[in-house]
Amino acid sequence: MKLELQDSSLLKTQAFINGEWVDGDEGNSFAVSNPANGEQVAVVASVGQAETRRAIDAAQVAMQSWKALPAAQRSAVLEQWHALILQNQQDLATLMTLEQGKPLFESVGEVAYGASYLKWFAEEGKRVYGDVIPTPQTNRRGIVIKQPVGVVAAITPWNFPNAMIARKVAPALAVGCAIVLKPAAETPLSALALAELAKRAGVPDGLFSVLPSADARAVGGEMTSNPLVKKVTFTGSTPVGKLLMKQCAETVKRTSMELGGNAPVIIFDDADLDAAIEGALVSKYRNSGQTCICANRLLVQEGIYDAFVEKFATAVNQFQLGEGFDKNTTHGPVITGKALTDIHAKVENAVAEGATVVTGGKPSDLGGNFYEPTILTGVNSDMRVFREEIFGPVAPVFKFSTEEEAISMANDTEFGLAAYVYTQNLGRVWRVSEGIEYGMVGVNETAISSEVIPFGGVKESGQGREGSKYGLDDYLETKYICMGGL
Ligand code: SIN
Repeated sequence: MKLELQDSSLLKTQAFINGEWVDGDEGNSFAVSNPANGEQVAVVASVGQAETRRAIDAAQVAMQSWKALPAAQRSAVLEQWHALILQNQQDLATLMTLEQGKPLFESVGEVAYGASYLKWFAEEGKRVYGDVIPTPQTNRRGIVIKQPVGVVAAITPWNFPNAMIARKVAPALAVGCAIVLKPAAETPLSALALAELAKRAGVPDGLFSVLPSADARAVGGEMTSNPLVKKVTFTGSTPVGKLLMKQCAETVKRTSMELGGNAPVIIFDDADLDAAIEGALVSKYRNSGQTCICANRLLVQEGIYDAFVEKFATAVNQFQLGEGFDKNTTHGPVITGKALTDIHAKVENAVAEGATVVTGGKPSDLGGNFYEPTILTGVNSDMRVFREEIFGPVAPVFKFSTEEEAISMANDTEFGLAAYVYTQNLGRVWRVSEGIEYGMVGVNETAISSEVIPFGGVKESGQGREGSKYGLDDYLETKYICMGGL
């Protein structure tokens, strides 16, 4: 696939620091390749610690005048950025499919999803309210105001190269923070294109810098140790999140962590079977299984287990694996050869321990990073597919007998991001929703994400919320002012 953009100036290969496009100090660079065929898409500047520090210094300066603006003025800039993203939706989607591999229709959808956070927080940023607290003393009042937390550092993943950035940058800028971003090395082009549109929209220099790098330790190390950075927000794996939290402890930074998941889809005998199958398909195979909230374990009650597996397999066998620009493609490759090897190792582990492959079960004949959409039965809780995040198009289907057993299986993990329940029984809806330890629960629905909901997890899936009115709090400090002598 040749790179064909309506606006070729959206293809940026330098870092964006303090409003300028620059190479790395050392002249380093790294290649970005298309996961569908391994072809090189671009060579991008790789920055290190010194450039990160400069971006943070610039952010600290830029935010002083930005935070002093009326919220409505900040909002107008975000609205303009939102409009430009939608005007360039097709080009942004093209860049995304090239570097990430997802089908073009998913990329188009993600660009709109990302833009929705800008719109939402442009509006919500005008509603940062405080409180007046009646005090025990008659001559005093307690006042609570909310202030921007300060310079924010963000580290974002490759699975949603646009939306995971937008939902951190939008609330940060809306409330008056500045933000420096390290996008995933696999997908920097989407981030850099967003920076170009931010500049065109009038986001002041220094307020939003983008630091592509092949040296995550150098950039992350500076972000987590620099005292000017007051908050680190990260979406990615739990081990990396833990490391960042440890590093942030040294300067007591606030953190938001959106980490790994192990989502169960619990399907009871009384569920609407077709709706459950549709929901499980969407949740399991979205982005070829590479989302943190993807169904990781399908838990199906014994009475409908066989019928579920049969219908589910029929639907999966209709998927069309292929290159993201092919109109017939329903599912793309996984991100790297390493990811493919990891996914296959989990399948092999399950099969070695007695699982049955209903469909798929191996790398696709298409070669490259394509893995066959897979269904496994005969699986149990000792297998890696029960314990670990699969992050690929593999659906292990577990059997359970009772509601208690389903809740216990769902909770038998250190993760707690998203879970889904299919049942027509209202009492059960409440018992299960309250009994499972997850930050988000979809009842008879798996497409739960949007800008208006608080996205986030519990347990080792992280802390903090993104989107919704709650998403602003992550970028605000609460200050108490005691007003005396009244
Ligand atoms: C994620 O994988 O973390 C994001 C998924 C979503 O926003 O729906």
